[in-house]
Amino acid sequence: MDEPATIVLKASLEAVKQARDFVALTFSAWGLEDHLARTVISELATNAVKHGSLPDDPVVVRAHLREDGCPMLEVWDRSDALPVVRPFDLVSENGRGLQLMQALVRHWGTRPLNEGGKVVWAVLEARPIEMNGRPPMTAIRPAPCMGNGPDLRF
Ligand SMILES: Nc1ncnc2c1ncn2[C@@H]1O[C@H](COP(=O)(O)OP(=O)(O)O)[C@@H](O)[C@H]1O
Ligand SMILES: [Mg+2]
Repeated sequence: MDEPATIVLKASLEAVKQARDFVALTFSAWGLEDHLARTVISELATNAVKHGSLPDDPVVVRAHLREDGCPMLEVWDRSDALPVVRPFDLVSENGRGLQLMQALVRHWGTRPLNEGGKVVWAVLEARPIEMNGRPPMTAIRPAPCMGNGPDLRF
């Protein structure tokens, strides 16, 4: 199994863009469409910075292509507090990120680590980049993304 692509960021507003750019680059190397993945990582990285870190704390972002061909994103932050999907509220200005994220992914979850902090992970559908309306020859065939969790140690 390939090692996951990993980037260690400093908790700050710039970290969210850096996480997005990192995911875009990684998905492009895999020949996969990155549109949904960029949205998902934006939400997870924003939460790690906003709810799970103090300024300049490390935030670790990983992207991994599972053996079934489905991409998985993981974000670690130092906080033991877990994400909570807020009930739908038309007037609230917050609390929509996880609702949006869970609508875009196949599976997601959280994993507290013995060493401290937790990982929030999401498994996406593999969508090969299309060229002239066709997937490239080398593209990974999309497969239904099964299974509940990461098959990796963080
Ligand atoms: N990485 C995290 N660490 C701790 N708490 C989190 C984390 N991500 C989300 N949460 C909790 O889950 C709630 C819902 O997250 P979200 O739907 O993204 O809404 P928002 O970020 O706008 O508050 C947050 O308000 C926060 O209490
Ligand atoms: Mg949020």
